[in-house]
Amino acid sequence: MEENIPPIEPIPESPAVKLIEEEEEIFQHVNNPVLGLKPIVKKYLGTPNSVIQKGNKFFFSDGEATVEATVVTDEIIRIRMAPHSVFLEEFSYAVPKLESKVSVFNLYDDELEYRISTSTVNCHISKKDFFISFSDSQNHVTSADAVPMHWEENVQFGGYYVFGTKVCHPEEAFFGLGDKPTDLNLRGKRFVNWNTDAYSFAWNQDPIYRSIPFYISLNEGIAHGIFFDNTFKAHFDFGAEDRGKTSFWADGGELQYYYIHGPNMMDVVKRYHLLTGTHPMPPLWALGYHQCRWSYYPESKVMKVAKGFRENQIPCDGIYLDIDYMDGYRCFTWNRKYFPDPKKMIKELAADGFKTVVIIDPGIRVDDNYWVFKEGKEKRYFCRRCDDYFMEGHVWPGRCQFPDFTNPEVREWWGTLFDELVQLGVAGVWNDMNEPAVFGAGTFPDDVRHQYDGFRGSHRKAHNIYGMQMVRATYEGMRKLMKNKRPFTITRAGYSGVQRYTSVWTGDNVASWEHLRLGNVQCQRLSMSGIPFCGTDIGGFSGEPDGELFTRWIQMGTFSPFMRAHSAGDTKEREPWSFGEPYTSINRKFIELRYRLIPYLYSTFWEHHRYGFPILRPVVMQEQDEINNQARQDEFTYGDKILVCPVMEPGQTSRKVYLPKGNWYYYWDNEMVEGAREVEVATPLETIPIFVKAGSVIPEYPVMQYVGEKEIEEVKLNVYYSDIAANSFFFEDYGETFAYEQDIYSEKKFVVSGKPTSMTIQQTMEGLYTPRYENYHFSVAGLPFKPTKIIADGKEITDFMYYSEQQVLEFRFTKNFKHIEVL
Ligand code: GLC
Repeated sequence: MEENIPPIEPIPESPAVKLIEEEEEIFQHVNNPVLGLKPIVKKYLGTPNSVIQKGNKFFFSDGEATVEATVVTDEIIRIRMAPHSVFLEEFSYAVPKLESKVSVFNLYDDELEYRISTSTVNCHISKKDFFISFSDSQNHVTSADAVPMHWEENVQFGGYYVFGTKVCHPEEAFFGLGDKPTDLNLRGKRFVNWNTDAYSFAWNQDPIYRSIPFYISLNEGIAHGIFFDNTFKAHFDFGAEDRGKTSFWADGGELQYYYIHGPNMMDVVKRYHLLTGTHPMPPLWALGYHQCRWSYYPESKVMKVAKGFRENQIPCDGIYLDIDYMDGYRCFTWNRKYFPDPKKMIKELAADGFKTVVIIDPGIRVDDNYWVFKEGKEKRYFCRRCDDYFMEGHVWPGRCQFPDFTNPEVREWWGTLFDELVQLGVAGVWNDMNEPAVFGAGTFPDDVRHQYDGFRGSHRKAHNIYGMQMVRATYEGMRKLMKNKRPFTITRAGYSGVQRYTSVWTGDNVASWEHLRLGNVQCQRLSMSGIPFCGTDIGGFSGEPDGELFTRWIQMGTFSPFMRAHSAGDTKEREPWSFGEPYTSINRKFIELRYRLIPYLYSTFWEHHRYGFPILRPVVMQEQDEINNQARQDEFTYGDKILVCPVMEPGQTSRKVYLPKGNWYYYWDNEMVEGAREVEVATPLETIPIFVKAGSVIPEYPVMQYVGEKEIEEVKLNVYYSDIAANSFFFEDYGETFAYEQDIYSEKKFVVSGKPTSMTIQQTMEGLYTPRYENYHFSVAGLPFKPTKIIADGKEITDFMYYSEQQVLEFRFTKNFKHIEVL
């Protein structure tokens, strides 16, 4: 039955509204001021009419709003906007210390614009409309506002929704944003950053686990980056709504972004790392193979799996205990029925080379007989709602409360909780469910309060950094407890800067070919978004892979910075030998390859840690001016020397691979191939396309069942002839302490350069570490001449072998050589 609703009368136009339109000042004389309130609408910056300089900061005002531009370095300028000229206090979890590293910059003021110029970048503030743009020293505009910065008041929570909109060019491509499960180029898409537990996520699902508000734009071969450092729910639109506009906005906080100059994509990533930090050197063993499952229990099962590796002679370093090792899923406890003597078990595992990694989630079971809960409750460390009720929600242990990791005191406390685990011999911690995930509700309600390192905020502000602060507390606590040893940590959720504390995996993927493809793109994307130590659940977390899919995944995982197989509890067991032959042998061959390449990966890690290079590099990063590379997302380089193209289709017997310009060697037979083109490569199950760049020196360790199993007697250096001089790096140290921070490491640089009838290898060294082995075993491929003589540091080496069919020259010489000439 329809209700009798009276028709809505049009509201008679109020004289007050008219008055407002005509003369704002008369506003206070109106009898009913409510009628005079202006509706809440988006507001835009007006015209700037003043500038004040304070050191490296410039403040531009339109009379009401103020924009601050900070010159951070010659290539980085930060922009902030305060709608009523009151800036929020400066604090960022992503950028721990904003140090200005520039001495010369100037402000120019002419009729049309204000301009701040460093030696490489100009920041233009248009006097007509407050548009902000950036250009390089050749006056090429790299980034320009399409609309002035704007905001809308948020009546419910206070503060503002804040918006920035840039011009989007017809051929502009976009990369970055962390773990988004979609194509590498983000063009034409819209995204939300809101950390989300996304079990069995799908292609194009958004958001998922991490929030990395950093993207790289590439237009006409010139790159720049935008880092929108805002922890609230944030949105990005890369020409989706309007082909001509790229926008980013957030539900609160400040419109604050860093313009990061290129022109190379690599420089943008390096400069992003300058702001947010790099990954510390991982323990060397963490570069080995990790085996995980939800869950291996009881103890006998764990030991059986470990033994399986040694019996099958398949190398493995990490073994994981998922939630079932705990007593009723209570963190920092043990289920004594399944694990009666964890210390003994961990010791036995360690004696066989296995490092034990345990899961620790944020939810602490509400239970007054449980010491962690009791302590947290007494100390008032758990999160509370706006009306002071505790934040309670269900996760694995049942009803839980959650530590407020944004409180430094809570982080400190949390760090101490690992004491017993460290004493038992645990080497690594896996932080999961830290989006934070809550069954049913998804996550915390918005009104949960956080201490936010003294800057206070609701969950709206703290949600995206909760997981990062959890793993930070874990890492810092473990680091203290392990004295000077490097802890291993892994997290699911994160925000920009999370790389300072941990590795990541891409979450609960699926055993499908589509997910293999997705994982490949996600790892490349994470790498270029500042998260170098990443990997997927090899084999797919949910669902059942067949032997072929699992093997293809192991092959790709061999070239993921982090290599771990993992599977859900309701699936069949999945160790590298579970599928029988030929799979077992192929899996072994690739995991062995992983171990042989550990010194190369470790050196690449050092290049990341020290210089801010990503570990995986999409081909578009190698050749950004080649427009077709914008769409290439299968092949990537591992470090800058090894190009890999995983096989991601069932039954595929050959595939196309693009090789960037220069010469490449096919890894499996050393055949030299010219680049700058696509080549067709055979892909039988036992190989994937791998190419090594000409001029590379790839260090190799002997295969071991685990890192450190045997003393290294010599290091093999695989040298690939090139007629153009090329550099390579080789980093070594103790592999488990922080001594590298005191220069106790060895960084070697090799320069290989060839002529038609000779080739030289030079070595220079830096650092205070001396490895114990004496010699290098050189294996030189691709010489265009038959070698007859080797002169090493002025002496002739007569003991060498030349295999003319394979064109490989082999000899040995001291690791301290300076100059070798092959004639
Ligand atoms: C989550 C994790 C998964 C883990 C499971 C049980 O789904 O993503 O890796 O095995 O929880 O702890």
